[in-house]
Amino acid sequence: MISQGHGRTPARQATLNLRAFSLSVSTKKVYFRMFLVLSASLHPDSRSRILAKASVEELQSIGREVTLFDLAVTPLPACDGAIAYGDENVKHLSSLIESAEAILVASPVYNYDVNAAVKNAVELTGRAWTGKVVSMMLSAGGQGSYMSAMGLANSLMLDFRCLIVPRFIYATGEAFEGDSLADDDIDARVKVLVKETVGLADAVNKSESRL
Ligand SMILES: Cc1cc2nc3c(=O)[nH]c(=O)nc-3n(C[C@H](O)[C@H](O)[C@H](O)COP(=O)(O)O)c2cc1C
Repeated sequence: MISQGHGRTPARQATLNLRAFSLSVSTKKVYFRMFLVLSASLHPDSRSRILAKASVEELQSIGREVTLFDLAVTPLPACDGAIAYGDENVKHLSSLIESAEAILVASPVYNYDVNAAVKNAVELTGRAWTGKVVSMMLSAGGQGSYMSAMGLANSLMLDFRCLIVPRFIYATGEAFEGDSLADDDIDARVKVLVKETVGLADAVNKSESRL
């Protein structure tokens, strides 16, 4: 048997290395608790914001900590790939994303996609999304644009290995009345989306293999 120094055999050294690695992994263990709801519409009477707020209420009702970040209230600069990363609101959003157990994105459908504001927010916060569980809620003008979340979903999956909850909320104008949800089915779907997001996020974040 060839010694690797300190009188250790290769097998013994491998065991020690593995133990040291496990220790360093366990000291880096992070427990996420807060759920982040990102409302992307800049419209003053936004319908997707109503979906965002419904998900906030549902998270609170099941006793989960939640932060609502509304891009209409806290504006972000346009991503220039340079100095915009230093903006205080960008840094704040990045830290919220990093510390979130999961992110629930509520966006309008614009031109068969999410709106530019949420795409801009992802460009600005980039790697903070790595490995996050993400779910999506869209408000749209018509039924035909129901695949509009896929561009953002693909980008988050392929760029940042996000886990996209395979259940979207897609609501058109009839689902809303004034500033509230007026559709029991959409209301029920928001509750199911929250339940599945929480379930997936809890399972994923407890798994050491993803740390
Ligand atoms: C610039 C623009 C583009 C839009 N494109 C689409 C579209 O491609 N498909 C669709 O169903 N609705 C489209 N709409 C309608 C919006 O999705 C709808 O008004 C939605 O309620 C907006 O969300 P918000 O109320 O949260 O701002 C568009 C609206 C605007 C202003």
